[in-house]
Amino acid sequence: MIKFFVLLKLLPPFLNRKRQLDNLINSDDNALKKIGKAVKDCLENNIDKEEEKYFDEVNFRISQLISSNESVVELDSEGRKAALKISSLTKQSSRKDFWGRLLFNLIRQFNPGNCLELGTCIGVSALFQAAAIKVNSSGSLTTIELSEERFNFAQKLFAETGNDFIHSINGDVEEVLTENLSGEKFDFVFVDANHKGEALIKYFSILCNLATDNAVIIFDDINWSPDMNKAWKEIRENVNVKYSFDLFEFGVCIFSNKQVNQNKKYSLPIFSY
Ligand SMILES: C[S@@+](CC[C@H](N)C(=O)[O-])C[C@H]1O[C@@H](n2cnc3c(N)ncnc32)[C@H](O)[C@@H]1O
Repeated sequence: MIKFFVLLKLLPPFLNRKRQLDNLINSDDNALKKIGKAVKDCLENNIDKEEEKYFDEVNFRISQLISSNESVVELDSEGRKAALKISSLTKQSSRKDFWGRLLFNLIRQFNPGNCLELGTCIGVSALFQAAAIKVNSSGSLTTIELSEERFNFAQKLFAETGNDFIHSINGDVEEVLTENLSGEKFDFVFVDANHKGEALIKYFSILCNLATDNAVIIFDDINWSPDMNKAWKEIRENVNVKYSFDLFEFGVCIFSNKQVNQNKKYSLPIFSY
């Protein structure tokens, strides 16, 4: 019943999405233009030859991970060793298809210098971001993962795929951001670590000190739970958020290092998994 009301609420912005995207693309504001273009190119599957080459390489690697027999061994909540299949982690916990393409397109559009990812898992979403950085011929990516086993697997994957420029860190996001990376600045951030609303709010408050003016901050799974959705709604009201875009799966913010008088919100629901 709740899902029915959520879908009913999303129907008008869904029907209005094409017009909204055209308005964004025709806007005088560069950030709005780039968001509109990144989303539209994803929906229409517009990709040039060079992009396609890098993008296909990522998809080929994902197909290998899905058919892999490898596992990572981790401790479960009761401290017992449990083997997690790479194929399951790729299917269940990793960004692929449409959303991987959107990460790729956003990095292509914004051409960020320093990118940051919170929650590497086994490295799939980092591959999409790294592919866009390669096509851009500039930029860097730092990614943080709590699980040592997933971190080790991702590092091996990055080396095997010619992505050893990715700076991979094993540790807790909050500790790494406030200790190891406290002096850094990031132009693009993908938030996909602890899926609790409280953690999301905390990450955002730390990121406020690390994000550059006009940085793109993306929150994954904003409809994962009512708690995550509540946190997303709180974040998009923040005085340092200039624009925010609710894409149903991703919440995207354009960050301002000055307080804004009015933060503008867009709803562009995309139902693709
Ligand atoms: C949904 S997965 C990330 C998926 C990855 N971004 C992708 O799409 O390929 C979330 C990851 O965040 C990690 N994580 C959860 N809490 C964390 C924390 N406090 N610090 C660092 N990593 C954390 C988990 O171990 C898990 O691997």
